[in-house]
Amino acid sequence: MSKQHLWWQEGVIYQIYPRSFMDSNSDGIGDLPGITARLDYLQWLGIDAVWLSPIYPSPMADFGYDVADYTGIEPMFGTMADFARLLAEVHGRGMKLLLDLVPNHTSDEHAWFQESRASRDNPKRDWYIWRDAAPGGGPPNNWLSAFGGSAWQWDEATGQYYLHSFAVEQPDLNWRNPEVEAAVFDAIRFWLDKGVDGFRVDVIYYMVKDALFRDNPPNPDFQPGQDPARTQIPVYSYNRPEVHDIARRMRRLFDAYDDRVIIGEIYLSPDELMKYYGANLDEVHLPFNFQLILLPWDATIIGRAVSAYEALLPELGWPNWVLGNHDQHRIATRVGRPQARVAAMLLLTLRGTPTCYYGDELAMVDGEIPPDLVRDPQELGKPGLGLGRDPERTPMQWDASPHAGFTTGTPWLPVAADYQTYNVAAERDDPESMLTFVRALLALRRTTPALSVGNYAETPSGSSDLFAFTREHAGQKILVVLNLSHAPHTFQSQPGPASAEILLSTLPGRAGTVDLTNLEVGADEGLILRL
Ligand code: NOJ
Repeated sequence: MSKQHLWWQEGVIYQIYPRSFMDSNSDGIGDLPGITARLDYLQWLGIDAVWLSPIYPSPMADFGYDVADYTGIEPMFGTMADFARLLAEVHGRGMKLLLDLVPNHTSDEHAWFQESRASRDNPKRDWYIWRDAAPGGGPPNNWLSAFGGSAWQWDEATGQYYLHSFAVEQPDLNWRNPEVEAAVFDAIRFWLDKGVDGFRVDVIYYMVKDALFRDNPPNPDFQPGQDPARTQIPVYSYNRPEVHDIARRMRRLFDAYDDRVIIGEIYLSPDELMKYYGANLDEVHLPFNFQLILLPWDATIIGRAVSAYEALLPELGWPNWVLGNHDQHRIATRVGRPQARVAAMLLLTLRGTPTCYYGDELAMVDGEIPPDLVRDPQELGKPGLGLGRDPERTPMQWDASPHAGFTTGTPWLPVAADYQTYNVAAERDDPESMLTFVRALLALRRTTPALSVGNYAETPSGSSDLFAFTREHAGQKILVVLNLSHAPHTFQSQPGPASAEILLSTLPGRAGTVDLTNLEVGADEGLILRL
């Protein structure tokens, strides 16, 4: 690594959904010893940091995003000793380990909420957001839960409503109470003291709500058939200005340690996203940039968005890109398998830290979940709208044995139907597989500083289906040409070098020197070229 850049700027992050990665004890659910057993695979693949979705004690109403104890390990995932071993083994391989912090809400089974709901005068009453019914009855305002229905739940025993931005079992903490901040910050220190390298912070932009609890306005652009949460514009229920004060204080906590990173999960417009870097780069290091997930897969639209994002970044603000996660349909399902290679090339050649989702390196597609096996609270709360997240959470496909080698028990979600073709064992020996391609891409990125830390400049391509850009560092200049369509196109470079050497193509068998004045780019082809 170069001295001027930090590990989280040069490195590639790999997200593991612990329930679905590797089961070591045959209960059908992935666990920490399972992850530890597969670290050699991750090292062989060539990633730099592992981010684990939540591993804390949880009743699993939202599969770990309902935390019942911020400083424990969920028994179905293992023990604190298993965690210590995992951390040591990750570090022993020169990799980093990131955990998931869920500060906006806890489980309703967290001891804090148990106390809070015990009585109106409990010392922890104000740790959560309790309100009287509206005059005349009913919820205090019109805010909606992301999982369907009102965000307010009536508590019969104490005669008030509590706020839950997500499931009923996920009451929102009251971050206007300094005791809440102190308690969660203690939990962060607990893990940083153990040597954890950073956190991905769940819905950081939700942490503070409007002090006056005003109604959200209706969304005039809502279309029937869309997510019902979109019937209103959530201007009062999230992204309030005060959240930036908390982010700054959180950052100060991290800055007391060496080289740790905060990644914020934020689904907001690029303008709003930028604010989470902090006016003095003093909030989160990386506000997750989800544009490659949210935008239509179109070379012109994506090219424009990349340039706009680059232009909006604060000076010295480090960019980042994401192609998939446990809340979004898999990239190979969204754009098809041939195009998923182009997408991987885009993710790993843009300027900024890439985050890869487990299994995408195999071209795993969304699994089919029969109605009686649906587990996701979002699908159960808002059925039939295609919002279910189980399909992208199916077990990692290790080999062609039953349940893809993930478990010898019954997996908590069924494995995807085509796992016998798309799995690590089959793909690692196939020179034309997605896995072989992604591994070559990661290796090229690692050995080509222009790709990891070089400057970015968009370059005209001569076709609305081709997105082309250069990356440049210390005299090394790389040209990336990506065909985001299923038809061949001709790349026509502007004045510049007449030829270039192919370093990698998404298509097998492409190598050598090519004529840049008239370069045929195949259907679903992406090219990395040395100028
Ligand atoms: C975002 C997480 O990624 C998602 O899985 C979860 O359901 C919500 N936050 C609530 O924690």
